[in-house]
Amino acid sequence: MRSHYCGLIGANEVGRKVTLCGWADARRDHGGVVFIDLRDHEGIVQVVADPDHAEVFKIASKTGYEDCLRVSGTVRVRSNLNEKIPTGHYEVVAESIELLNAARDLPFALHENPNEEMRLKYRYLDLRRPEMQKVMRTRIKLVQALRRWLDARGFQDIETPILTKATPEGARDYLVPSRVHTGHFYALPQSPQLFKQLLMIAGFDRYYQIARCFRDEDLRADRQPEFTQLDMEFAFVEERDVQDCVESMLREVFFDVGGIELADPFPRMTWLEAMTRYGSDKPDLRIELELVDIADAVKHLEFKVFAGPANDPDGRVAALRVPGGHELSRKQLDDYAAYAAKFGAKGLAWLKVEDAAKGLQGVNSPVAKFLDEATLAAILQRTGAQNGDALLFGAGKWKTVSDFMGALRLKVARDRGLVVEGWQPLWVTDFPMFEYDETERRHVALHHPFTAPKVDDAQALAADPAHAVSRGYDMVLNGAEIGGGSIRIHTPEMQSAVFRLLGIGEAEARAKFGFLLDALKMGAPPHGGIAFGIDRLAMLIGGTEAIRDVIAFPKTTSAQDLMTDAPSPIDAKQLAELHVRTLDPVRKGDG
Ligand code: AMO
Ligand code: AMP
Repeated sequence: MRSHYCGLIGANEVGRKVTLCGWADARRDHGGVVFIDLRDHEGIVQVVADPDHAEVFKIASKTGYEDCLRVSGTVRVRSNLNEKIPTGHYEVVAESIELLNAARDLPFALHENPNEEMRLKYRYLDLRRPEMQKVMRTRIKLVQALRRWLDARGFQDIETPILTKATPEGARDYLVPSRVHTGHFYALPQSPQLFKQLLMIAGFDRYYQIARCFRDEDLRADRQPEFTQLDMEFAFVEERDVQDCVESMLREVFFDVGGIELADPFPRMTWLEAMTRYGSDKPDLRIELELVDIADAVKHLEFKVFAGPANDPDGRVAALRVPGGHELSRKQLDDYAAYAAKFGAKGLAWLKVEDAAKGLQGVNSPVAKFLDEATLAAILQRTGAQNGDALLFGAGKWKTVSDFMGALRLKVARDRGLVVEGWQPLWVTDFPMFEYDETERRHVALHHPFTAPKVDDAQALAADPAHAVSRGYDMVLNGAEIGGGSIRIHTPEMQSAVFRLLGIGEAEARAKFGFLLDALKMGAPPHGGIAFGIDRLAMLIGGTEAIRDVIAFPKTTSAQDLMTDAPSPIDAKQLAELHVRTLDPVRKGDG
């Protein structure tokens, strides 16, 4: 249908006849001449229709916004150059214009800023917008570059099932009822975790897959119910083998796709250090601010809010310096307290340093009355607080204080412009094996139940699970968790021990993971791997804030597809075939 792309018309085409297809981005009528900006996926070129070609002129005059056209004509140099677009020195003098299809009833103009709901409902139009074309292309380039890198190094791309048995990663499963087996369900994979481990046992050594994963969990700006991983697994490896390999992959790919230079080597930090210094297991190192522990300086105070946690082995008292923070108003401080409360804070003490030389006379704080000069001096010295700064204090359980102070650190830094532009990758290692779930009253795996502990001995692990450290590692970039992996358990004894510690009994382990336990008995090699969130990588390289912007057909935060209206009710006949009956009648307006 066409000989050239609109956006690629250049000096070579001058004087030549070309045929282009695309959309009318704009039409301008100028004293008897009609200009149409014709757009295809490569860009825009100006088309001119003059009254000498009566037929062409007639069609051009009637062309509507976003009409789909085919234009033939000759390329010439423009008299008024447009430096804003790559084709801006050239135009196509139309000899024929064919209306391939009219655009009617557009819900929004592409260069308006349509609201999110309209964008998702008419996603195909939203995707026509140049910003969306650009970011989607970045994603495509990213996946191409990753594949190129992996293929060149002997990684084997193997598909794993989508209709499968639950593969737990800590979220709820999406289930698919079986028509043939009454009352039985497939689960959609939360990740290919178990299959890639089985591929190592099967002797494939180095595997990768661009894998779709499904997780029914609360959605956020960087989470979707279905998303894509670059999933990798290696046989006969230890942590550094995996980490060094993927580190060089990321460095090359980020440079190729985004011209971004990442540090060599990536810095590393244990989970404990990350939580202590930054109150996060995915610290954003573009922000210099750190949490400072002051428990030992306040444990003697009468002030129970501080002294209680300071004397509790499971407690924490931490301070965050806010540079220039003495200007914060009461309202702003109250807002910070309310923000911290969302992350579990019971209160937020603050202190403004007006004149440090004057000691307690020189500070302004609702808790100053509980402090003594020596304590204040110790706090100021340790936090490095200067005149004009403020300090925010968190006290309570170690985990809670770390969480809310970590969240405040991010908020304060964003509010006050303290996030330094750049790229800060980080390995976080030495995670705890287990986390105690207060509501379920049992241990849950911090990574997944297949992650190996640092101790080799199952008995030693069982003796002190609360302090067990895992062989898991996360890859963090600018405060986003872009990847996670581990060395796996490769013996049936250790795997059974971990199941037991997670409260998964013998019978349940057999029923859910019998195939894995059997496979581990048959000469399973030591193995490990990692998975990266492709969507998150694309967000970072593409510079977008919302994961929806890097997915062609994403879902809303309530897991709906506004375009197709999925999920939607199923008719009674189909439900009967699947042996499924719903408890609640389908509500009106649900579909
Ligand atoms: P994990 O659960 O950490 O590990 O997932 C790996 C990476 O996938 C991305 N990710 C998501 N992206 C978008 N939406 C989501 N809902 C979502 N959930 C996770 C993150 C994350 O770092 N099987 C293990 C990997 C392994 O051990 O090899 C796994 O899935 O960027
Ligand atoms: P209270 O004695 O509860 O009125 O608290 C005195 C001061 O300590 C107030 O400024 C509170 O905001 C602050 N505060 C209370 N609980 C905490 C906490 N868990 N962490 C930090 N500050 C707190």
